[in-house]
Amino acid sequence: MSNYIHGYLSDEQERLLNQAGTLASLIYPWIDFSTSKKLLEIGSGVGAQSKLLLELYPEIELTCVEIEASQLEKAQVNLASYSDRKIDFVQQDAQQLKLEKTFDSIFICWVLEHLSEPLDVLGRAFAHLDPGGIIYLTEVFNSSFHIFPKLGGLTDYYSAFNAYQLQNGGNPDIGLQLGNLLDQSGFIEIKLNHGGFHLDQSQPESLAAMCDYWKSLMKSAAEGMRSCGLISEREVIQMEKDLDQLKTEKNAVFFYQFVQAKATRPL
Ligand SMILES: C[S@@+](CC[C@H](N)C(=O)[O-])C[C@H]1O[C@@H](n2cnc3c(N)ncnc32)[C@H](O)[C@@H]1O
Repeated sequence: MSNYIHGYLSDEQERLLNQAGTLASLIYPWIDFSTSKKLLEIGSGVGAQSKLLLELYPEIELTCVEIEASQLEKAQVNLASYSDRKIDFVQQDAQQLKLEKTFDSIFICWVLEHLSEPLDVLGRAFAHLDPGGIIYLTEVFNSSFHIFPKLGGLTDYYSAFNAYQLQNGGNPDIGLQLGNLLDQSGFIEIKLNHGGFHLDQSQPESLAAMCDYWKSLMKSAAEGMRSCGLISEREVIQMEKDLDQLKTEKNAVFFYQFVQAKATRPL
């Protein structure tokens, strides 16, 4: 069993919307649902990616599956302007997914990292995919994070953040395992892609924007980390100061890679 490290407060629900917008240009160029009609999004949260998928693919019917009722309620609000589209909202644990219908495509983004049994989700995804159907995954590879110069507050906070995810049954490096997990779930034609950012002072605005985004990502787990004694308020403040300092460092570097995977259910 795993616990969700970001929680479900309204700030976090807003952060998911901002995150989807910030990272969309990195995530979506590799994804192609142009031949899809029935798309299942697993772990759809507040509908942040759903919105982008509906915009990119005007023909698709979308089913959003999410474990947390308050996320689904927020998704319904966030997607209210798409009343002319067919969208189903289903509250279920994806590890035991059981729906009445099957799909020609599945999308999962930033979800498997939170689960102790990601193979259960991929097994249920396989069972709900039509033969020949496609699945796209996008997940974290947190060990790829590298900054220059090394700033102690940010580095220590980041270690605690990843320890917290492990402690809660998740895997902050699950991106590395996507090919193996898809293979073990019976998928074929597995392709992997690395995306992310390598920012420095040659792109100061992008660097500063990423430092601000990273701050919100790091802070999203602060309350839980504090309550189990992994960090104190002082360390939260230092992490934020370090990210502000990185924006102005002459030789600053901010590097991070996530992993994407595409696979097919055999005919
Ligand atoms: C980091 S959010 C990502 C949401 C969305 N994919 C996005 O990128 O905006 C992860 C979501 O997965 C949901 N989730 C976690 N475990 C789940 C499970 N077992 N079944 C369904 N949803 C789950 C969480 O409640 C949360 O809303």
